[in-house]
This record gives sequence, structure tokens and C-alpha cells, in this order.
Amino acid sequence: MCGIVGYIGKQQASDIIIEGLKRLEYRGYDSAGVALLNGTLDIKKGKGKVQRLKSKLAASPCRGMIGIGHTRWATHGAPNDINSHPHVSQSGNIALVHNGIIENYGSLKKELKNKGRSFQTDTDTEVVAQLIEEIYENGENVSFEQAVRLALKQVVGTYGLAILHTDEPDRIIVARKGSPLLLGIGDGEMFIASDASPIVGHTNKVIYLDDGEMAIVRKDGYEVKTIEDIPLTKKVHELALSLDEIEKGGYPHFMLKEIFEQPRAVADCLRGRLNVENHSVQLGGLTDVIDRLAAADRLIIAGCGTSWHAGLVGEYLFEHLARLPVEVEYASEFRYREPLISEDDVMLVISQSGETADTLAALRTAKEHGALALGVCNVVGSTIARDTDAGVYTHAGPEIGVASTKAFTTQVSVLVMMAILLGQKRGTIDKEYAARLIRELNDIPGKIEKILDQSDSVKRMAELFTYAPNFLYLGRTYNFPVALEGALKLKEISYIHAEGYPAAEMKHGPIALIDAMMPVVVIAATDHTNDKMISNIEEVKARKGRIIAITGAENKEVIDLAEFSCPIPETEDCLSPLLTSIPLQLLSYYIAVNRGCDVDQPRNLAKSVTVE
Ligand code: G6P
Repeated sequence: MCGIVGYIGKQQASDIIIEGLKRLEYRGYDSAGVALLNGTLDIKKGKGKVQRLKSKLAASPCRGMIGIGHTRWATHGAPNDINSHPHVSQSGNIALVHNGIIENYGSLKKELKNKGRSFQTDTDTEVVAQLIEEIYENGENVSFEQAVRLALKQVVGTYGLAILHTDEPDRIIVARKGSPLLLGIGDGEMFIASDASPIVGHTNKVIYLDDGEMAIVRKDGYEVKTIEDIPLTKKVHELALSLDEIEKGGYPHFMLKEIFEQPRAVADCLRGRLNVENHSVQLGGLTDVIDRLAAADRLIIAGCGTSWHAGLVGEYLFEHLARLPVEVEYASEFRYREPLISEDDVMLVISQSGETADTLAALRTAKEHGALALGVCNVVGSTIARDTDAGVYTHAGPEIGVASTKAFTTQVSVLVMMAILLGQKRGTIDKEYAARLIRELNDIPGKIEKILDQSDSVKRMAELFTYAPNFLYLGRTYNFPVALEGALKLKEISYIHAEGYPAAEMKHGPIALIDAMMPVVVIAATDHTNDKMISNIEEVKARKGRIIAITGAENKEVIDLAEFSCPIPETEDCLSPLLTSIPLQLLSYYIAVNRGCDVDQPRNLAKSVTVE
């Protein structure tokens, strides 16, 4: 939520910041702004996307070789011009951008008002600028850095901050607690960003700040310290991202590019991990913890959104293949319950971004109780990836479309590999079955390719259902989570109300909604429940519901019952979500495009939810 970019160096900062903000726009796009320092602070900001800010800057440029920028997902204060970042102190000498929430902003604001400060905005962020100035102006010999430090000690909440002061035009001060921030080290220039994408193409040397750290960033260097002023030596990481990976590559939308990237993304995820000849799975990230995992009493899986859906598939996988009891938790609920966790439990968090605030909090809760903490993340070096005891990267490459696609299929691929590995270790999966699954998994990228080859028929079908007001998605076992995921995709990007349900559960409520206007997407790709699914289809048809079937190419009975069908190649039941999810992604994409929706940046959403 919210993206931050900063630059200090030898080039005009404005273009670099704008380009960086565009790459971070997936984090929020309610408003955008920049502050450049060139003697005085020059600020341009306003409601709307980064492109709007870019046009403003073209008409009236901001000059300066030091600056900060922000793209906002509104939490406190309406998404309007005034509440856009950067925010300034009363004198106008301090400007800052913020990602996070200042929870005690109300009491701080009251105190500052009592001291005579007046506020321009409804945001929590403005309070920080004012507080720093209050301390700076009224303390004895307090430097800008000390004022920031003292202010942050009073602040409760989460922040990634980048701050400028006109008195110290050679530095940007940044600080992190709960919201990601990294530094890019260039040659005579430094970059600041919420994630690595704005830095790609400028430098591949990065430092990830941890919670409770701040940095004083100059054009020719940086110092990292704790908020308590203890100097730190940070590891410099090499970025492996390329520009190609963060561009659309000829596709009209990132989402479509990412859907079509799935054969490659899943292949990358499996690469070097599957050995088809000797029927084994190798997950280097789990080597040191596999014995503890195999001896666990229980696996708790936590995540949000699409990652939670992948976790539900994981529940079926681990129980079936490794006979390990699993609980799947919404990360946001888990953290505020009084969960019973012991040292014999293993917590597995799943997160594409590795930054989701609730998932991170669930992870920390489990760690506090002594559970082993594992992660399945996509973003290398993300907070969750660094905070877990061990884990497996999905290697999907950057996912920029707000609606997750390749993140889901690669997460499920990792979970399948983990479940096979664990099943082998616990002796719960027989040799032949394991060999068959490994062979089949290896063939999944090719099978996804075959489904994508039929995208035109999904597109034609989408035209017929573009204006349906509601959709119902039904699945059983492994494909119940896929039904949830299909419905989520449609809601997210086309704003059509959709519900995912276990097919049999339909009789306990949703069946009342079915009439001739209701498209019902039936995911019928699991063999041992096929007969039951056929009965459910009949029940829908008897009430004139319109059946769209996602089913095996050989499943003639279902194909004959359906008004439309998307045949998918045959595979093992437990691998079917890797295939059945693809037509559902395409269906939601084409419907959203037909409805004129902003596919990559749907209203009110953000890709990385770093606030609770
Ligand atoms: C947001 C995104 C979803 C994503 C969820 C969890 O809601 O819009 O696409 O599934 O966050 O994100 P994570 O990065 O933890 O997987």
C-alpha cells in the first residue's frame, strides 16, 4: 500500500522519481506527488494516477537533484489533492512521504495543535512532519537527524518514511517500521524505494532496511543506524531483476502478460527441484528443517486473498499426501484470536509480495510461540522471506497486475512439491504414486500452454456473459479453492458480484439465487467426485441456471450437460488446480476488458497490503 521513491545524485530527480512511481503504482493509485529540493521545496501533487502527475510536471517542471515521491492508497483522509503526499511541516521546510499508518496520530495532533500548530490535511502522515519540526525548532542543538529519531520514538504504528529538510539539502532521511524500504547504491547517486522495481536499470546493488532502522542517504553514500542511534553494517544484495521482467512486453495489460507467462513461471518454479528419473523432489530451502517439519503435530497455513486460496489447496495436498493435520487461517483473523500454538506446530505463511501486514503479523505470532516458521514467497528479499526460519521461493518473476495469476499457480506448484517431499519423508505416499505425480507435475507447463492456446474460445464466451450481474462458481475438493479464486478474480477486476462455493453446499443457500440469468461456473475436474458433481449440475439446470464447465477433455457427460465448456488436459486430481484456474483467469480478464474496467489497477484495491 503506497509506494515511495527517492533519489539523490547527479541527475534531475523528477524523471527518475516519476518512472519509479509508475513501477510502484500497483501499490496504490489514489493520488501521486513529488517534492524536489533545490534551495526551497518544490512540490507537485494531486488526486489521480502517476500519469496525471507526469502531465502536470511536463507543464510546469520541478528541478532538483534530490527528491522524494509517493503513490497513495488512501487510509486516513479522502483521496483528494490536499491529502496527497508529500506532506509538509508548518514552515514548509520539511517534506515527507509515508507508507503505513500512524495509529496515535489523533493524540499527537491534539498535542501539536495545543502548541499552536495548524494542520492542512486529514492524514495521519502530516502529524509526523509537524512533530519532527516541533522537535527540531524547539530542542536545543537538535539536528534534523535527531529530530527524526526523537519524533519516531513518539510514533505508534507502521511506517516507511523518506524525509527532506531545506536546512540539510545533501541528504534524505529514511526510516522503516512495518513497511518495506530499500536503498539502491549507484555511482555517485542513491535510490530509495518501497521495492526493487524503481531501481532496476539504475543499479543492481541494494540494501534492505529492517524494522527499527533508519538511514541517512547522501549522493555518495549512506549510514544505516537503529532508531536508537546504533550504527549498523548492512549486507549489500545483488538484484537479479531485469527491465524486461517489469514491462508489459507487448501485452495490453500486465495481467494478460502474467496469465500467458504461466507455462514459463511454473517451469521456473519447478526447475532444479524435480527429478523425474529418480522420483525425488529437492527443496534446498527446507533441507535444514525437513526433519522438524516431518515430525510436526500440525501445519498451520496462513495468508490473505489469493495466497489464502493457495493455502486451502495446500490443506488438501498435505492431508492427502503427507497425512499431516492442517489448519488454514486467514492471517488477519489468526493474529487477533488467541491461537493455540505449540513448539511442535509448523506455521507456513504464503505471500506473493512477502509484505502483507497481516500475514507478517501471523508469522510473528507463531514464532513467538516457538513454532517453526516457513514461508512461500515470490519476492526475493521481502520481509516475510527474511523473517521466516526457512522457505521456498516461487520464482514466478515480478507480478504487477493487481489480480494474482501466476502467483497462485506457482504457489500451488510449491505446495505440491512440499507435500510430495513430506509424504516421502513420512512414508505416507507410495513410490509409484510419487513417481507418477512428479512426472505429471513436470508436464504441467506444457498442459497450461495447451489451455492458453484456447484463449480465443474463452474470449468468445466472455462476450456472452459480460453483463451478467452475478456469477456462481462451484467446485469440490481440490477445486473448491479454485472456485473461490475464480470468483475473487471476477469480483476484483470486473466488479461483478461472484461467489465461490463447495458444490454440495450450494443446496444450503445459493441455490435460491439460481435462475435463467445466473451463470454457474462448474469446475468438474476431480475424478472421484465426478458423479456428485454431475448431480449438482443437474440441480442447477433444473432451475434454468446456465452452466459453464471447466472439465477434463474426456469428461463427455459434463461437457454434454454444459452450455459452454473449457476442456482441460487430463491430470492427477491433486494437480488439477494448476490447470482449472487458467480458464477462470482468462474469463475474468476478458469480461473486465469488455466492461471497460481498469484491469491492472482495479478500483479500491492495491497489490501489496502493508496496512492491517
Ligand atoms: C491483495 C492483492 C491480492 C493478494 C493479497 C495477498 O489483496 O490484491 O492479489 O492475493 O493481497 O497478497 P500477498 O502478497 O500476501 O500474496
